[in-house]
Amino acid sequence: MGRIVIRGGLVVTAADEVEADVLVDGEKIVALAARGSAEAESWTAERVVDAGGRYVIPGGVDAHTHMELPFGNTVASDTFETGTVAAAWGGTTTVVDFAVQTRGRSLREGLDAWSAKAAGVCAVDYGFHMIVSDVTDASLREMDGLVAEGVTSFKLFMAYPGVFLSDDGQLLRAMQRAGGNGGLVMAHAENGVAIDVLAAQALAAGRTEPRHHGEVRRALLESEATHRAIQLARVAGDVPLYVVHVSAREAVAELARARDAGLPVFGETCPQYLFLSADNLAEPGFEGAKYVCSTPLRPREHQAALWRALRTDDLQVVSTDHCPFCFAGQKELGRGDFSKIPNGLPGVEHRMDLLHQAVVDGHISRRRWIELACAAPARMFGLYGRKGTVAPGADADLVVYDPAAEQTISAATHHMNVDYSAYEGRRVTGRVETVLSRGRVVIDGRGYVGRPGHGRFLPRGTCQYVR
Ligand code: URP
Ligand code: ZN
Ligand code: ZN
Ligand code: ZN
Repeated sequence: MGRIVIRGGLVVTAADEVEADVLVDGEKIVALAARGSAEAESWTAERVVDAGGRYVIPGGVDAHTHMELPFGNTVASDTFETGTVAAAWGGTTTVVDFAVQTRGRSLREGLDAWSAKAAGVCAVDYGFHMIVSDVTDASLREMDGLVAEGVTSFKLFMAYPGVFLSDDGQLLRAMQRAGGNGGLVMAHAENGVAIDVLAAQALAAGRTEPRHHGEVRRALLESEATHRAIQLARVAGDVPLYVVHVSAREAVAELARARDAGLPVFGETCPQYLFLSADNLAEPGFEGAKYVCSTPLRPREHQAALWRALRTDDLQVVSTDHCPFCFAGQKELGRGDFSKIPNGLPGVEHRMDLLHQAVVDGHISRRRWIELACAAPARMFGLYGRKGTVAPGADADLVVYDPAAEQTISAATHHMNVDYSAYEGRRVTGRVETVLSRGRVVIDGRGYVGRPGHGRFLPRGTCQYVR
């Protein structure tokens, strides 16, 4: 480790763009100084990274990943090791993954199981949210202890009856508890009971192809659940609410209305909803299975509302919901029955690049790119200051980003442990060049030079938007 100077770059944060050199000592950023200034010229270091003509940005914070998630009769194909190496390749230096409470078991058992999977193998730092699948007196009490340990956010599902679904009373109780302990409730907002009725009807009528996955998961059933979650959060005492993987314009409208009323309601969307659509689900020959996730990809017309909400701050965060399943042997489980296709898309490696492409395309500004991908997720989940910015005292999680480099996304060249790319053949402008994770170079030009176990568990504070 030791001292590293990054020279000649344009430092881009959510707040500023400055031509500055950055001094790293050990795990921390210790100083920024104007390029060519006496201070910057006085720095000595073991290593100088040339960032001329490039950006120096904070490492990405992906607040929604599912490494090794069991789903249906299979398990997401990236391990914490392969998934965090892929994250590093893509300029993401923090992931917040979801530990799962199994029904009938404690939160503690779930967290211990996920901690064991991640311990000693991650390439970059990681935290956990907790999926609460069983709202009981005991699990509600456990939430307090988890918040104190730095697991400060809890995902509740309004979908997947019989597996993850919490009913309205359970959701309300979890929200009330979070109101007392400072936790942030995250809602998967889809009316899963109604969706299951429509799915059974579609299958009975012989509509078994992947595109029907998208059709039965109606946009109205996303916006209805979003509305319901917001009202329950109000009833619980105006507690903060974070709606995950928002895809429907009608759901965006619910969030915008709540925020305009001054409620502490937040939302994320994901690159797949911005760059892909129901057209992908309708690709012939079961190719559509590659795009099955929930909430589903929507018709293209929904995208404009998502882009707009990202500009107006009605949506604050872009995460990936990275949850990869191979086409061979995993997605194929749902041939002849779309309801058996494991839900999820790979993407942890491409979020920073796809959002940079959105800068190139004029959807968002350069600083908004960093806000959505680094600063806002760090603030939302109690990591800001340490993660999400380039400033003295912050962890030296830094990316030298070449905004002019061209690349083509492909399964042949990506590093995620999955046999296809949802973005196969897509040309993007911009590329990660060098990545530091807590002061250690983990991506060096074209190679991964980190080591498993460098990444550490991050105990998180509470949501920094509401305190
Ligand atoms: O399809 C998805 N999103 N799979 C991961 C689980 C979830 O609901 O986030
Ligand atoms: Zn979900
Ligand atoms: Zn608004
Ligand atoms: Zn998810």
